[in-house]
Amino acid sequence: MRLLAWQIFLAHWGGARAEPGKFWHITHLHLDPHYKVSKYPFQVCPSAGFQSVPNAGPWGDYLCDSPWALINSSIYAMKEIEPEPDFILWTGDDMPHVPDEKLGEAAVLEIVECLTQLIREVFLGAFYSEKLPGPSGAGQIVLTADMVDPGQQFQWLEDVLTNASKAGDMVYIVGNMPPGFFEKTQNKVWSQEGFNEKYLKVVQKHGCVIAGQFFRHHHTDSFQMLYDDAGQLPAPSLLLSPDPLCAPISAMFITPGVTPWKTTLPGVINGANNPAIPVFEYDRATLSLKDMVTYFMNLSQVNAQGMRRWELQYQLTKAYWVPDTSAHSVQAVLDRIAGDQGALQHYYVYNSVSYYAGVCDEAARVDVDAYTTCLYLPLLLMALLGLCTLVL
Ligand SMILES: *[C@@H]1O[C@H](CO)[C@@H](O)[C@H](O)[C@H]1NC(C)=O
Ligand SMILES: *[C@@H]1O[C@H](CO)[C@@H](O)[C@H](O)[C@H]1NC(C)=O
Ligand SMILES: *[C@@H]1O[C@H](CO)[C@@H](O)[C@H](O)[C@H]1NC(C)=O
Ligand SMILES: [Zn+2]
Repeated sequence: MRLLAWQIFLAHWGGARAEPGKFWHITHLHLDPHYKVSKYPFQVCPSAGFQSVPNAGPWGDYLCDSPWALINSSIYAMKEIEPEPDFILWTGDDMPHVPDEKLGEAAVLEIVECLTQLIREVFLGAFYSEKLPGPSGAGQIVLTADMVDPGQQFQWLEDVLTNASKAGDMVYIVGNMPPGFFEKTQNKVWSQEGFNEKYLKVVQKHGCVIAGQFFRHHHTDSFQMLYDDAGQLPAPSLLLSPDPLCAPISAMFITPGVTPWKTTLPGVINGANNPAIPVFEYDRATLSLKDMVTYFMNLSQVNAQGMRRWELQYQLTKAYWVPDTSAHSVQAVLDRIAGDQGALQHYYVYNSVSYYAGVCDEAARVDVDAYTTCLYLPLLLMALLGLCTLVL
């Protein structure tokens, strides 16, 4: 079950205006209120379905959604690491993975209430808003729901972006299901037919006012680059290197989730992740993105040691040797991942937030059968579909 509302907390802290601003993006909390450390492996958590959960620990289990202790710990860790963000993007998916009929509206509202209370308690004074703190108050966050369009969302998005461009505003687009493919399954496209292209066209048309795109849904750490196709369909090989006909216009960050829950999506092997909380650094005046830093909890380790610990997973600029996280820099990251085995390996490990640290080797990279373990084929599939979008 999906949470309908999107929440953004905006706080007054601010600080010196010339300093870069920070914001957290937390997502996929997926609270399982009935999680308990039980010696009976079928009684640990309803979110594991019919799977046996041996050795469950106090901070959670890779087969289960988040216990309260994990979510509580993630919010407190955010407060310790970056206590004064300008805002927090909290983009939902808060319910356990259980059949809808086992949840019901009252339970959903209760979960949202508990989580809201926790965040407000820890980040004192937070409130809802959708204006960003720019010098002129000019920034905007645009929220798009899933890629279905009963309410003419595409037209609305076009209008917002057109208005923003007239007013000289910059915009962040925040959405749930990203266009393109899920990097861990063959042919898994979330959006309805035609919406991939439609979304891409909007971004191509209004790229210059889009300062960032933040999506999620995969629970994994990934990003996509959207290109200006200049009317030309790229050959697969062109996607591997920057092409003047295919200029990068906007990077989309697909942020990992707090829940470690191993996906049950058919065809995905070993699709769990460690809990992660990413924080972004941005220029308050222009909204241009400076960096992304992801912190994580090594779930197996904290369970074994019995103490909570959040540690640095990686800082994007340092991990990939780029000056910032602008579209151009993210393109440089993609080039590096495409051309350098070390960078590809880093990406591969970060993708599951160090849950799975196997080797993504050169042979597997081009092997269609290894697609599900090596995350790389979407790029080719995308090209075959004639879309100028690189998915990693
Ligand atoms: C939440 O985390 C804080 C900080 O670690 C801790 O002091 C508190 O006891 C935790 N509360 C619950 C209910 O786990
Ligand atoms: C765009 O601007 C026009 C004119 O000010 C306004 O009527 C319209 O509501 C705006 N559209 C959106 C989606 O903000
Ligand atoms: C996480 O903890 C496990 C178990 O202690 C350990 O084997 C693994 O190397 C750790 N991973 C990271 C990235 O620290
Ligand atoms: Zn989710």
